[in-house]
Amino acid sequence: GDDAGQAHFDAVIARDSRIEPTDWMPADYRHALIRQMSQHAHSEIIGMQPEANWITRAPSLKRKAILMAKVQDEAGHGLYLYSATETLGITRDEMTAQLLAGKARYSSIFNYPAVTWADMGAIGWMVDGAAITNQVPLCRASYGPYARAMVRICKEESFHQRQGFEILLELSHGTPGQKAMAQDAVNRWYGPSLMMFGPPDTDSPNSQQSMAWNIKRFSNDELRSRFVGMLAEQAKVLGLELPDPAVRLNPDTGKWEHGPLDWDEFKNVLAGRGPCNAQRMERRRAAHDGGAWVREAAAAYAAKQAARAAQ
Ligand code: 3HC
Repeated sequence: GDDAGQAHFDAVIARDSRIEPTDWMPADYRHALIRQMSQHAHSEIIGMQPEANWITRAPSLKRKAILMAKVQDEAGHGLYLYSATETLGITRDEMTAQLLAGKARYSSIFNYPAVTWADMGAIGWMVDGAAITNQVPLCRASYGPYARAMVRICKEESFHQRQGFEILLELSHGTPGQKAMAQDAVNRWYGPSLMMFGPPDTDSPNSQQSMAWNIKRFSNDELRSRFVGMLAEQAKVLGLELPDPAVRLNPDTGKWEHGPLDWDEFKNVLAGRGPCNAQRMERRRAAHDGGAWVREAAAAYAAKQAARAAQ
C-alpha cells in the first residue's frame, strides 16, 4: 500500500539512493520529474535550430562536419530524455503534442538568434558550458533513468563545449574583424546563458522541493556562480572580455559574483515574447508535419509485420 511505499521512498531518499521506474513514488515526485525531464528533452530538440541554420554556412568542411555531429548529438539527447521520461507513464506522443501546442516549456536560451558564425562558438562555449554545469550534478539525481541519461549526455557535451571554445579561440586570434565578431557574440550570449540556470533562488518555486527529493543538488544561483567562474577563467585564455564589470571572485565567500540580470527579459522569453519563440515553434511544427509520411509508413509497415506474424 501507499504507507509502505511512502516509507520505502522516504528511506531511499534519506540514504541518497536511487528510485527506479518500478518503485512506488509519490504522485508529485512523478509529476515534478515529468515536468523537468520533458522540458529538458524539448530543450535539446528546439536547441538544434539555432545551429542548424549555420550547417550550410559553415566556413570550412571541418567546421561543417563538427557542427552536424553536434546537432545530431542533440537530437539523440532529446530522444534519450523522452525515453527516460516515458518510464514515468507519459508517452512521447503526449509530450510532442504538448510542445507543438505551445504548452510545454523549453530552455529560454534557444529563443535567441544566432546571427553570425561566431555565435556557433559562443553557443558551444557558453550554452553547452552552462548545460554541463547544470547537468553534471543531475548525474546524481535520485531518479535512476534521469541520472543515467545525464551520465551519457555529459560525455558528449564536453565535446560540444570544446569545439565552441576552439571556434572562439581561432576567431579571437584571427583578423581584428574576426576578433570583434567573437567579442560581439560573447556580449550577446552572456546574459541569456546566465539565465539558463533559472530565476534567482528567492524566486524559484520548485527549488526547495526539488532539492529535498535529491533532484536538484545545487541552487540556481550556486550553479550560476560556478558557471561565471568558469567563463571568467576561460575568457582570459580566449583573449575576450565578459560584458560584465562586476564579475569577480569574492575572497570572503569564495563565490564568483556578477552584475544584475534582466529578469523582465527572462519573464518575457518564458511568456513566449522572446526574439525567436514564434520562429522556433513554427519550425518545429513544420518539421513534425514534414515527418508525418515517415511515421505513417513506419506504422503501415509495423501493421503488415504484425499481420504476417499473426498468420
Ligand atoms: N528556460 C525556461 N524555463 C525556465 C528556465 C529556463 N532557463 N529556468 C526556469 N524555468 C522555469 C521552470 O521550468 C519553472 O517553471 P515550471 O514550474 O512551469 O516548470 C519556473 O521557471 C521556475 O523556475 P524554478 O527554478 O522553480 O524551476 P526548476 O527547479 O525546474 O529549475 C532548471 C529550472 C534549473 C532549468 C531545472 O528545471 C533544470 O535543471 N532542468 C534540467 C536542465 C535543462 O533543462 N537544461 C536545458 C539546457 S539546454 C540543453 O540541455 C541543451 C544543451 O545540449 C545545449
